[in-house]
Amino acid sequence: MNLPSVMGHECSGEIVAVGEDVKNLSVGDYVAVETHIPCGECYQCENGEQHICQNLKMFGIHTNGCFAEYAAVPAIVVRKISKNIQPEVGAMLEPLGVGFRAGMDMQVSGKRVAMIGCGPIGLLAIASIKALGAADIYAVDIIDERLELAKELGASQCFNSKEIDVVDEIMKITDGVGVDAFIDASGNVHAINQGFKFLRKGGQVGLVGLPSKPISLDLGSDVVFKEAKITGYHGRKMFETWTKMLNMLSNKSLYVDPVVTHVMPLEKYHEAVELLKQGKGSKIILIP
Ligand SMILES: NC(=O)c1ccc[n+]([C@@H]2O[C@H](COP(=O)([O-])OP(=O)(O)OC[C@H]3O[C@@H](n4cnc5c(N)ncnc54)[C@H](O)[C@@H]3O)[C@@H](O)[C@H]2O)c1
Ligand SMILES: [Zn+2]
Ligand SMILES: [Zn+2]
Repeated sequence: MNLPSVMGHECSGEIVAVGEDVKNLSVGDYVAVETHIPCGECYQCENGEQHICQNLKMFGIHTNGCFAEYAAVPAIVVRKISKNIQPEVGAMLEPLGVGFRAGMDMQVSGKRVAMIGCGPIGLLAIASIKALGAADIYAVDIIDERLELAKELGASQCFNSKEIDVVDEIMKITDGVGVDAFIDASGNVHAINQGFKFLRKGGQVGLVGLPSKPISLDLGSDVVFKEAKITGYHGRKMFETWTKMLNMLSNKSLYVDPVVTHVMPLEKYHEAVELLKQGKGSKIILIP
């Protein structure tokens, strides 16, 4: 990020002007923003993986972002959305797409899935895998308020791993088998290792959280002998994830409203950051 810069990459809004070469967008369109700006020319871009473009630029990091009344957004990442999606939800489509994509890719329908980390990313993933038909969702976090939201969004059972032995508990409720899959949205090394312990043999792992440093895993017993299938997910498929997620939000089979815990004017961003530091609230919507 080159400073000074306007931060913010998750938003919804209305188009007030379009560049002269832009054909598919018009003034007045109601839109949200995909953050991954692809180059359109590299190997990945030419082979259907523009979301992991080799020259990926991020809206709000490599460009000015959306913590402002007006934002300039490259047309390639602007998505028109239906008017029946509230602006607060529209602003969460980008983070929602991460867990939604993991859930789609992992084919969670009918499975027992543990969700590690119930920050906004984890909570939106819970809502997604619930909507995608997971049989049971076990939510793990170390903050009770977040676990309460997890319950509201469809978790069948919630575990505060500061208070109980989460590996023991999950093994118990799965009759000693372990879960079919876990998704990590904590980025916490200890929690990820616990996940591998309560994962069943042949199970799947979806990695979304970003640990701050390299982590160590017991590859022999937790991956090779277990035949664990591990996949990392960076953002959304462009634009398959958006299309499916928007379909399910529009017909109300995907419900994410409780993730928005506060709405405040942009000027109060200090207060918002303070709340999050204290582990209070989830998505705080800032209105410019
Ligand atoms: N892969 C992607 O495309 C992508 C996109 C956005 C964010 N991320 C990453 O996803 C992660 C989650 O993002 P977020 O915005 O929800 O962050 P967050 O910090 O709000 O959420 C992390 C959650 O993990 C919980 N946690 C911490 N230690 C734990 C432990 N030992 N056991 C269980 N839970 C624990 C925290 O209490 C918190 O609720 C971050 O690492 C973020 O960088 C990845
Ligand atoms: Zn590219
Ligand atoms: Zn984001």
